[in-house]
Amino acid sequence: MPRSVRKAVIPAAGLGTRFLPATKAVPKEMLPLVDKPSIQYVVEEAVAAGITDILIITGRGKRDVEDHFDRSVELEAFLREAGKEEELNTVRAISGLAQIHFIRQGQPLGLGHAIGLARHHVGDESFAVMLPDDLCHPKSAILSGMLVAHQQTGASVLCLKQVDHREVSLYGCVAFDGYNGSMVQVRDLVEKPAPEDAPSDLGVMGRYVLTPAIFDAIAATRPGRGGEIQLTDAIRGLLDREPVFGYTFSEGRFDVGNKLDFLKATVAFALERDDLGPEFRSFLEEVVRGR
Ligand code: G1P
Repeated sequence: MPRSVRKAVIPAAGLGTRFLPATKAVPKEMLPLVDKPSIQYVVEEAVAAGITDILIITGRGKRDVEDHFDRSVELEAFLREAGKEEELNTVRAISGLAQIHFIRQGQPLGLGHAIGLARHHVGDESFAVMLPDDLCHPKSAILSGMLVAHQQTGASVLCLKQVDHREVSLYGCVAFDGYNGSMVQVRDLVEKPAPEDAPSDLGVMGRYVLTPAIFDAIAATRPGRGGEIQLTDAIRGLLDREPVFGYTFSEGRFDVGNKLDFLKATVAFALERDDLGPEFRSFLEEVVRGR
């Protein structure tokens, strides 16, 4: 029986050009959904799935991400003196979520390259990769389901979703055999194919559980699409050595690197809040009715 997965890697070195000008001076992972930066939702998702060690791969201009997960001694002292207990607890809880580590990707050489940098930290154990542009609803349990699938198979598990045929070119895309319930066996992968070349409409969403064999596969991967070392190509290399499975799901994921999905996630999360939801709902109803 494989050991349970303890570590997650979150690659957060991307420049966020889809969200300019907001991301000119602020890391895209720090853009808030309601009152929490998007990357905090991803860290909380990992913790909820039982992960205790998180490596965030950053790059230039990402110091705010490190500061967010660090203690903030001055702010905590101020809140304590001001008697703002609730805010103090909120701030302190962030640095206690998990053991959070950082390394920097010096050059933007691709997602596969970024994950390859985690080799020393991860060592010889399976681990999760969580792309912070892909936000899962806190109740979605997608990662937990993938971890169970990994526990049962001992193999790498990719998160897959049926996408609109015209949108396959935005994703890694798989050829697969039916397997069991929500699971498929992955036979081949291609990074962002043209719709006419796509092996299926099942796209890879930003959650992966990978065996440590991925590191040799990354080391053997040459630059692919966009001249970058692609994680998709490395997983394709892994297929020569071991099986790879896909965990399919349909609900509860937002691409918060996309403006429309970012707005949808903001509205969905705000509506669920006890403190904001009821008034916000009335406001939205008024807006939709045209006032
Ligand atoms: C990355 C991966 C792609 C995957 C996608 C999921 O692409 O390269 O295979 O399907 O994330 O969001 P990106 O969206 O970073 O360009």
